[in-house]
Amino acid sequence: MKFVIVVGSQQAQSQSAKLAAAMSERLGADHTCDIVDLGKRPLPFLDFKPTDADQQHLAQLAQTLNDSDALVVIAPEWHGMAPAALKNFFLHFSGGQLAHKPALLVAVSSGDGGAYPIAELRSSSYKNSRICYLPEHLIVRHVESVFNLDDSKNDERSQSYLSERLDYALSVLTVYAENFQSIRSALPDASAYPNGM
Ligand SMILES: Cc1cc2nc3c(=O)[nH]c(=O)nc-3n(C[C@H](O)[C@H](O)[C@H](O)COP(=O)(O)O)c2cc1C
Repeated sequence: MKFVIVVGSQQAQSQSAKLAAAMSERLGADHTCDIVDLGKRPLPFLDFKPTDADQQHLAQLAQTLNDSDALVVIAPEWHGMAPAALKNFFLHFSGGQLAHKPALLVAVSSGDGGAYPIAELRSSSYKNSRICYLPEHLIVRHVESVFNLDDSKNDERSQSYLSERLDYALSVLTVYAENFQSIRSALPDASAYPNGM
């Protein structure tokens, strides 16, 4: 299966990217996995005037997303919201690239937050992208204390719980990815309905 992990932080070095690396390592053992880090390589805000370099980057990304079977969407909570860079990602890629593809939502907080970006993305990012979020999601709270390469920096209890929960969620995502291939191939022609209602 081909997975894409979208890192929704706008920071070049982010906790979200740290989680993406841990997930990629797990998925990469049996699958291909691309990381699209919106902080390391920002997309232009949708203004209908992209540069040639932007257009090339967007075209490459569209191809990677078209070829993918499933996604992980990582959203840090910023002022109770998903970052603008992540909403901008969905503005660029709501033309079929993500359609009827399963996706695991992962929220990130340095404290006790993380619920808001899950609610926001579940309610507002799927209409035209037609991305299919799993009923299972992850909220990684106190993110600085888990998934660090230096295990001495990890909170033992949280690390153990979240690590097992992550493996479970990625297993569910993989089963969805395999079976959504036949769903996509059996779908009726949607050309009359390019956008959701
Ligand atoms: C602009 C900004 C706003 C933030 N707002 C919240 C918030 O509303 N709730 C919360 O739990 N954490 C908030 N945080 C802290 C993030 O949870 C923390 O930075 C975490 O590491 C995830 O972000 P990252 O992936 O960009 O590193 C905020 C961080 C930033 C930079």
